[in-house]
Amino acid sequence: MEFFLDTADVDEIREIAAWGILDGVTTNPSLIKKSGRDFKTVVAEIAAICKGPISAEVTALDTAGMVEQGRILKEELPDNVIIKIPCTPEGLAATKILTADGINTNVTLVFSAAQALMAAKAGATYVSPFIGRIDDTGADGMTLIAEIMSTWDNYNIKTKVLAASIRHPTHVLACMQMGAHTVTMPAKTFRQLMSHPLTDKGLAGFMKDWAEVEAAGNA
Ligand code: E4P
Repeated sequence: MEFFLDTADVDEIREIAAWGILDGVTTNPSLIKKSGRDFKTVVAEIAAICKGPISAEVTALDTAGMVEQGRILKEELPDNVIIKIPCTPEGLAATKILTADGINTNVTLVFSAAQALMAAKAGATYVSPFIGRIDDTGADGMTLIAEIMSTWDNYNIKTKVLAASIRHPTHVLACMQMGAHTVTMPAKTFRQLMSHPLTDKGLAGFMKDWAEVEAAGNA
């Protein structure tokens, strides 16, 4: 399973990348706004920190505009940048064209299994169903991941399912059990996943006992 970080904050990316298990980064226009930095500059910096796919999103709404932006981003940014495209009819057409160009894509804002399947048919490298935003409406976001994974089982689909809009560790655990290929989550969720009180307690006990071993001259 791939672990992606969902942020445009380079300090957070450096922190999690230092753990050695970061597979990629997703950004979107809202995360770029939050960073307060120039879009291409910050994406290039992220791409230098993390070798994995870095999603940079197009902002045009028409197919020709998305294709033009995608090609420019691929030309001007490092090779590990992939193009994030909204799941609209225009986005499907742009995905098909960019895929034919050999450009990897991440089709985003996916809220149904049918949208995911159509994005896969267009050649998307990743599809991004948004779990948390579905939960926010009172429905169950994990049901969508289950529907997509069972659809994927029915066909020979190579597109990776990238579970997005993750709000807490339980989302990640459920994605692991359902076989989602990738999750993208905030740094807070990475930290929560690695934190366990019994690890802290056990380590404190070992350190205390080791100090006594050293004090006895037996280290
Ligand atoms: C995914 O690529 C999106 O950037 C992200 O997961 C959206 O999450 P949000 O619903 O917390 O904004």
